[in-house]
Amino acid sequence: MSIHKLLPLVLFIVTANAVNKHTTTPPMGWNSYNHYSCYANETQIQSNAQALVDLGLASVGYTYVVPDCGWSAKTRTSEGKITWNETFYPSGFPALGKKLHSLGLMFGIYSGAGTWQCHPEGANYLIQASLGHEKEDAQTFSDWGGDYLKYDNCWADGKNFVVYYPNETDPSARFRKMATEIDAVPRDFVYGICQWGVGNNLERWASKIGNNWRMSNDITNAWHSIFRITNQVVPLARYSKPGGYNDMDMLMVGNGVLTPEESRTHFSIWAMEKSPLFIGAALENNLLDADALKIFSNKEVVAINQDLLGRAAELVRRFSEEEYDVWAGPLAGDGMVVAVINWGATERNITINLPDVGIQSAKKARDVWAATDLDGLDTTYSALIPSHGVKLLRLEGLTKAGEYTGKIGSDGTAFKNVYAFTSSSNYTITITPATASRVSLIIDGKNPITRPVSRSGIITDVSLSAGLHELRVSSRTKSLRLALSDFSKEYQDAPASLSFNVDSTISGSKVVDVSYINYDLSFDKAWSGEGLNVLNATFSVNGGKGKTWRFPISGQSWEEVGTMRIELDGFRNGRNVVNITGVEGKMIVKGVEIWG
Ligand code: GLA
Repeated sequence: MSIHKLLPLVLFIVTANAVNKHTTTPPMGWNSYNHYSCYANETQIQSNAQALVDLGLASVGYTYVVPDCGWSAKTRTSEGKITWNETFYPSGFPALGKKLHSLGLMFGIYSGAGTWQCHPEGANYLIQASLGHEKEDAQTFSDWGGDYLKYDNCWADGKNFVVYYPNETDPSARFRKMATEIDAVPRDFVYGICQWGVGNNLERWASKIGNNWRMSNDITNAWHSIFRITNQVVPLARYSKPGGYNDMDMLMVGNGVLTPEESRTHFSIWAMEKSPLFIGAALENNLLDADALKIFSNKEVVAINQDLLGRAAELVRRFSEEEYDVWAGPLAGDGMVVAVINWGATERNITINLPDVGIQSAKKARDVWAATDLDGLDTTYSALIPSHGVKLLRLEGLTKAGEYTGKIGSDGTAFKNVYAFTSSSNYTITITPATASRVSLIIDGKNPITRPVSRSGIITDVSLSAGLHELRVSSRTKSLRLALSDFSKEYQDAPASLSFNVDSTISGSKVVDVSYINYDLSFDKAWSGEGLNVLNATFSVNGGKGKTWRFPISGQSWEEVGTMRIELDGFRNGRNVVNITGVEGKMIVKGVEIWG
């Protein structure tokens, strides 16, 4: 094939990949908005930048400095170029860019896919943004030495400060226009889309053109804001990848409201979700408190954020009445991060079952904030967690859930801590090597049951109630694998009455995967703390006491179904009835899958 025929193909490949060349890990830096609102000036930006260097934060990785809203002038130059407000920035933006570069930092520029910038003074303070001027503004930002573009979404129709979905003009088209223009300029920009996640299918369009995309309304300086944003990232976490991250907003650590525990929890969640980490506190004039500095400087937590796999942790289990969550996600090199978050108002001892995060044991375990190595973990992990606190673990040397090594004695092999996640008579046990055609099993030291073993070592239909057991096998057996037969889970579409019949051959508690839709995004209510992006539903078994769960956002539209795993107690041998009541707001329960 001749060169000129190949050329369009090559160009196509380069354009298609353009966004991912900007960054391989979530961007880190400092942004003026959370502390200075839209009123930061040149001196403040420079002294905060200097402090980033002096406090050692630049060397931890916080290098992008973004003067947020408020910097542009009300009118453009006679050539139609966007320009700076000379009162706030007397030396000008090109000089600011030079200054930042001379400190070894990167220059972030804020604009928006609307007529004017977002500004708390609304129509009383209309200053230039980039809608309709994308080409010349991209060139200007490049001429000024920009390295990052935070692109906001106010005044999208030129008339209303915020244009709510579904009346908003197509955000993907407005944001794509600027993506094309910054890809065309000589400088390499990281493109941060700030559309707040309103409207449908944010990730589907934003991940094609941006490096990170704000997926929620603004963070506020309050603990409830952390819970709200966390509940909105739940369905998006799975899409995180190198060069494409959910942006949970600038950090509030160090802004005087969150306690040190809350700050560590906030920072841990942002880190494991692979959100960009932008410090939003004042660093100049020794304004930063020692706790906050320690948090930002924690290299082990930052390393979780900057992990090259780029995958975000996902919500694995939620215990709403008990007020804690378990989150887990993979790290490069077969490691794993696990976070146990105590959302409650009291310090508590919390025990988690490692099979719930997909593993049976970990040879190496690091309590990240305590900076201590724990003895390896086996099956369970317990810790005292302060109110609003977190246990952040980094695990390595993992064994898959359901894999056990036994202790061989003269009377057979003992397996401790065999974990059944749901009560069922449908467990299968595989033993290696399969030594006999029949073995006896002693479960929890009680009546031995004698069972045939297949050639491949499989014993079927073993009954186990949910929880931990000791299993003794009457033969010499190196390892044991516990699994639930596939046919034992049963999906049922939700009837209008939300009442399900469940037949069981064993009593106890069972795991239930609830399929549901909650796309009731807390946008307007975000500021007051009323909106937490959760809707409640209450479940009861055989008329017993109901238990309530808080269901987070489930997907990217009212069409997308999410699943949350819960556990229900009170099943008995025979026919059971599960009732779901008090389904809040517009939440839809689509069905349940009952394990066991
Ligand atoms: C929007 C953005 C914020 C900040 C403000 C500035 O609300 O989401 O991050 O840039 O505008 O007014």
